[in-house]
Amino acid sequence: MPKRYRDVKGDGGSNIAGQVVEQRQRLQARMAQIRSKVAVMSGKGGVGKSTITTNLALFFAREGFRVGVVDADLNGPSLARMFGVRRQPLRIEEQGVLPAEGPLGIRLISMDFFLGSDERPVVWEGPQAESFLWRGTLEMQTLREFLADTQWGALDLLLIDLPPGIDRFSTLRDLLPDLQGTVVVTIPSAVSHLVVLKAITLAREILKAPLIGVVENMSGYLCPTCQQEGPLFPSARETMARLGIPLLGQIPFDPRLAEAADQGIPYLLLHGDTPVGQALGRVGEGVKSFLEEVNSV
Ligand SMILES: Nc1ncnc2c1ncn2[C@@H]1O[C@H](COP(=O)(O)OP(=O)(O)O)[C@@H](O)[C@H]1O
Ligand SMILES: [Mg+2]
Repeated sequence: MPKRYRDVKGDGGSNIAGQVVEQRQRLQARMAQIRSKVAVMSGKGGVGKSTITTNLALFFAREGFRVGVVDADLNGPSLARMFGVRRQPLRIEEQGVLPAEGPLGIRLISMDFFLGSDERPVVWEGPQAESFLWRGTLEMQTLREFLADTQWGALDLLLIDLPPGIDRFSTLRDLLPDLQGTVVVTIPSAVSHLVVLKAITLAREILKAPLIGVVENMSGYLCPTCQQEGPLFPSARETMARLGIPLLGQIPFDPRLAEAADQGIPYLLLHGDTPVGQALGRVGEGVKSFLEEVNSV
């Protein structure tokens, strides 16, 4: 049975009400030390959300920002692997957990650090019929603990890699009322765009955080054997332009992204000047100018 974050951190559940108030205060105090918070989301999984988060973190760390990353995708906690800090034992102190430290001092907290040695996903407790509800609740409780109980210290930017799906935003708004914005990741297919549009609408209405922009990942992949000209799927560019949504960048397909993830070294550190590296850099620049604009007012 994999350990849950609470099993490691908790004191057995006494004085719940007092703990809730205290946790809320801790959360506010910690978040007050972090200048900008940005959520990375997608309508569905497997579109490259964690890949984009990893390389955004690296981009900002290289720009001199003090960066933290929360891996809130409990059933696919891939960020520890991508930052090369898998299964790093974490120090738990009176004041909270010390985050793992990845390349360029990037601080990371992930469910990966609290899972057992097997690869089983987090177990969702509760009656089967309601497991969906339980799952959402547990995910948000864990995110709350990750934010409130981690010794982030002073940061310039906290990136939050959210689980896929569009139904848990109201709690997030409660946890992070000052979220500066969201980055939405999609892939070039009409279905994916549709899901993304729903996510964008909900994020705007419920999170009330501005959409920084959309990243189209695995864009412009040319079928190597069928010699087809141009991308296989309709590009996000037209859809986004029609709807007035900023397109932060289009990241081509590059198998070295998966290789870098397996090596545990962010792609931008290895291949900064490839087309993919440049495209990732443009996404970073876009987010950076957005933050400069909102933070200077
Ligand atoms: N542009 C790309 N080119 C090639 N492989 C990619 C690209 N983007 C992501 N991948 C790979 O696709 C898989 C899913 O990406 P990941 O970032 O884990 O998605 P998500 O977090 O949305 O589930 C990973 O193996 C990753 O290395
Ligand atoms: Mg992921």
